[in-house]
Amino acid sequence: MSYKTEFEAARDNPEAFWKAKSETLPWFKNPKKILTKNEHGIYNWFADGEMNTAYMALDHHVENGRAEQAALIYDSPVTNTQKTYSYRELRDEVALCAGMLKDLGVGKGDRVIIYMSMTPQAAIAMYACARLGAIHSVVFGGFSPVELAVRIDDAKPKVILSTSCGIEIQRIIEYKPLVDKAIELAQYKPDYSVIFQRPEALADLNQSYDVDWRQALTQSTPADCTPVNGSDPLYILYTSGTTGKPKGVVRENGGHAVAMKYSMQAVYNIEPGEVFWAASDVGWAVGHSYIVYAPLLHGATAVLYEGKPVFTPDAGAFWRVIADHKVKGLFTAPTAYRAIIKEDPTAEFIKQYDLSSLETIYSAGERLDPATHSWLEEKLQLPVIDNWWQTESGWPIVSNMIGVEQMAIKPGSSSVPCPGYDVQVLDETGKQLGPNTQGNIAIKLPLPPCFLSTVWGDLERFKSGYLEAYPGYYNSGDGGYIDDDGYVFIMGRIDDVINVAGHRLSTGEMEEVIGKHASIAECAVIGRNDDLKGQLPAGFVVLKNGIEASDEDISKELIALVREKIGAVAVFKEVYVVPRLPKTRSGKILRKTMRHIFNGEEYVIPSTIDDPDSLSEIEALKA
Ligand code: COA
Ligand code: AMP
Repeated sequence: MSYKTEFEAARDNPEAFWKAKSETLPWFKNPKKILTKNEHGIYNWFADGEMNTAYMALDHHVENGRAEQAALIYDSPVTNTQKTYSYRELRDEVALCAGMLKDLGVGKGDRVIIYMSMTPQAAIAMYACARLGAIHSVVFGGFSPVELAVRIDDAKPKVILSTSCGIEIQRIIEYKPLVDKAIELAQYKPDYSVIFQRPEALADLNQSYDVDWRQALTQSTPADCTPVNGSDPLYILYTSGTTGKPKGVVRENGGHAVAMKYSMQAVYNIEPGEVFWAASDVGWAVGHSYIVYAPLLHGATAVLYEGKPVFTPDAGAFWRVIADHKVKGLFTAPTAYRAIIKEDPTAEFIKQYDLSSLETIYSAGERLDPATHSWLEEKLQLPVIDNWWQTESGWPIVSNMIGVEQMAIKPGSSSVPCPGYDVQVLDETGKQLGPNTQGNIAIKLPLPPCFLSTVWGDLERFKSGYLEAYPGYYNSGDGGYIDDDGYVFIMGRIDDVINVAGHRLSTGEMEEVIGKHASIAECAVIGRNDDLKGQLPAGFVVLKNGIEASDEDISKELIALVREKIGAVAVFKEVYVVPRLPKTRSGKILRKTMRHIFNGEEYVIPSTIDDPDSLSEIEALKA
């Protein structure tokens, strides 16, 4: 099968193409409706199929010869633990955890927030929700209680599941006080908060809503799989948009299962029984898809790693995991590779491990810069595959589909559109642009299975945020171009979203937090290029008249404020107090121009600028 045949089959007859892919999964009742439009005019995949994602990923394999095969390998250098769960063990733990949730009143369609460190219980909790037809929403541990409270108010969960702590290299972060603070801040109050006690920091379970996870399990009995429809939501995953309020990306059960299973083979070239490792966190889309769901839907083995690429204990950590567990495919963000390169530029650690199982290196989350690409290729002598995707898609939009046909690799491009995606470059008016011309990257509707079906509780935001800019298209928010060979080059966001260590953050949200400080008249946050983390936020603030505090004190307060309101994950550590911000005559802050200046990139002084001298002030700060 060639890439061209596969791509054209999906383009010319999407329903037949995806129906055939869906038939590789064990449905309770096969879908008859493949692609339909709902009452709001929004596309759904497999709406009338009956299924259960946990059944497809676990019970089905237990019943069909994989019961004793490894399903999940937990590797935690921060606690010196390695534990392998067979499909049978994982299914049993999931069924019991689902029984516990059921006893706490969770049923089909109810929401459960999961705010947990990288323990197997996080994956077990996700599958337990899926088993009941409940909708999980995993919140990354690096977010603050304020961010957690925003998600509680939006998702209205019956239960929050958490661990007593997380471990950041050697630092213990107690999660329970963060959960308590979030519940206090939120308007909506969940019924229960269930805590998995970790010996590194035991939490006081002294609130009326507290439940001890292990104790509750001793009283529960395993729960069966609840059938759901293909179009019923499996999870909500919040991601940064251009405003302060995160968007709850809704993922449906049916399309998700089909795309997960398909991509595991077609994009990642993994066969059932082989080991795949996505070094990410379950709090991100990569973690949902390629740590928790796709490998198991495909009958493969997943690695769940609680550690960093460096310092746990050294820059050989990834190579050690690959050798220990015979990993065939490694997938992480460029920032993690850059962290390794920084610590071990001559790749001494690579020589210490037997990496003969490793066949391919994958990268996503931000542009894979050509220098990192060639280091990996040279030191590992393996294909290095960049994928472009978003939380919204849940699986790659553009990739070299090596499970179908390995094509030439062009550093700087994530290669060609995956089957199901009609990727185009449009100008501001929606006109299609020719090859090698930069513009807005848009995807022609209908979108393939797994793509978000709406924004949780906010259909209007789904439409206005994604579908209205270019009628008939999904607006990705990324800019780039397509070359003569059809290779897609993603050049970065065209909105106020930045990418810090592969984590998507909103500069608009940071501006909202900073703008509320009593001394600040106005502010702008831009993404500054960074060799390690890709981008870092830099804040420019104008003080109100008469403020006596020193610039240094104000900066410290703002840094602490962003950490408190958004979280450590924002990595907001750079503030410049300026006399004014560059603006147009109509008062619009020239953030893009500021970004170009600050990053030493070429820029054109906008003809609408109010005072060109304001740009020299930014130039001076760069120095
Ligand atoms: N819980 C609590 N705090 C967390 C956290 C978690 N789960 N994850 C990160 N943090 C904290 C970090 O400790 C750090 O705090 P600090 O400012 O006190 O040092 C802060 O959030 C920023 O984290 P990060 O930007 O990740 O920096 P880092 O120095 O800890 O690690 C990398 C840098 C490159 C090693 C790491 O980001 C990484 O491995 N990234 C690639 C994988 C990935 O997550 N990709 C995401 C999508 S694929
Ligand atoms: P997230 O939703 O957190 O996965 O972030 C998605 C954003 O990350 C995209 O809109 C891009 O801006 C960026 N991104 C992800 N993968 C790539 C890639 N391979 N190349 C360039 N940018 C990427």
